[in-house]
Amino acid sequence: MSKNKTTFQCQACGYNSPKWLGKCPDCGEWNSFIEEKEAPRVLKSSHSVEKLQPLSEIAQVSVKRRLTGIKELDRVLGGGLVGGAVILIGGDPGIGKSTLLLQAVSRLTNNSLGNTKACDTKPQLVFYVSGEESPEQIKLRAERLSISSPDIILFPETLIENIIETSKRLKPSIIVIDSIQTVYTDELTSAPGSVSQIRESASKLMLYAKKTATPVFLIGHVTKEGAIAGPRVLEHLVDTVLYFEGDRGHSYRIIRTIKNRFGSTNEIGVFSMTDSGLSEIENPSELFLSERPSGVSGSTVIASIEGTRPLLVEIQALVSPTTFGMPRRTSMGVDFNRVNLLIAVLEKKAGVQLGGMDVFVNIVGGLRINEPAADLGIIASLVSSFREIPIDSTAFFFGEAGLTGEIRAVSMAEHRLREAAKIGFKKAIIPQSNKERLKKDFGLDIFGLKNIEEVIELL
Ligand code: TYD
Ligand code: MG
Repeated sequence: MSKNKTTFQCQACGYNSPKWLGKCPDCGEWNSFIEEKEAPRVLKSSHSVEKLQPLSEIAQVSVKRRLTGIKELDRVLGGGLVGGAVILIGGDPGIGKSTLLLQAVSRLTNNSLGNTKACDTKPQLVFYVSGEESPEQIKLRAERLSISSPDIILFPETLIENIIETSKRLKPSIIVIDSIQTVYTDELTSAPGSVSQIRESASKLMLYAKKTATPVFLIGHVTKEGAIAGPRVLEHLVDTVLYFEGDRGHSYRIIRTIKNRFGSTNEIGVFSMTDSGLSEIENPSELFLSERPSGVSGSTVIASIEGTRPLLVEIQALVSPTTFGMPRRTSMGVDFNRVNLLIAVLEKKAGVQLGGMDVFVNIVGGLRINEPAADLGIIASLVSSFREIPIDSTAFFFGEAGLTGEIRAVSMAEHRLREAAKIGFKKAIIPQSNKERLKKDFGLDIFGLKNIEEVIELL
């Protein structure tokens, strides 16, 4: 079979060239050429009127979901696996992507462990396509996870045409591609892992998945250096994008939904990496608060929301006189500019002079909090450290601070209160406007605040 012709196309303006160019002669963009397959010209008849359908007459399909048996994974998938879904799982190398998927497919093939009600369509075969590790290496990992199943078929192949041909013959009920960077199509001459190879291979898998209603997991490495273009180019193509977060220094891992055509986004699933694989953490707040010191200044707990999930985390601040001319400001886990802004508001509106002070703010556990509801907690930590007053360890905070020193309402207040009450907190320090709208008090002592000065008084 003769090789299909390919051309190089500028991604900025669409200029075509038979060979790769560093700079586009048309628009002048650098490094914008990507190899593309030349689409064969197909002459189509123009009778497409039959394809027109009124929306109301399209038969309703109920989406059948298959639970993976790993609750945290099901949650980020939007309540289970949908037939024909293509799911991209991205993350740093070594974070645990292969481990998670091996655990998930093992649960799926194992009826006794999985939810029997949901697993009535027990998958017969799972293809675990690995271009990255040898079957022996995967076996070693499986042994660590105590997984041994005749239904998981290891398939060391990287040529996408072969993968699809074999799948058509054996009809696996789930396909895992570990990783999308290693597979390639022989229709393109560029190296595996290049943008065009990734895109082409993924769209072939996508076609197969849709045609046969087979769910396909694609593992993609996202590295901080260059290779970031890899899986990112797939985000618009696939149905669901999950990102694995967490750092090597901590054992917990968070899976975040970035995109989901079958469920809500912004969900998170929390796991911890143990000696025998990833284990689910059903109550992450307890994990993040487990090592909280009591009776020291500079530490507060905030009730934040991740997706639809309330999460209680500890914020620590350290304020000490600077020994240099320029005070140092550092923040980990919260936005640096946000901290600077809060310091400025504290100085101007509450008269807390932090000008000659080094300020460090940290979210314990390596977590990142991006919502403004953390403001009140950051302010309380700063003041607590500055004045050396410990904060009641049964109190927690949430609320947004404005530039004029006002405390503003935040969303989902009841969720936050309920979660904190469940864990055993007693006092809630929240925006006054949130307090007024509450219908219940969840057994908590609730203090409503209108502005920053009231925070200082309260402490
Ligand atoms: P892995 O799933 O291979 O990562 P990825 O596929 O994302 O590159 O997991 C890698 C890390 O997880 C590795 O450093 C070892 C660790 N690990 C455990 O701590 N416990 C376990 O049971 C397993 C299987 C791995
Ligand atoms: Mg891996």
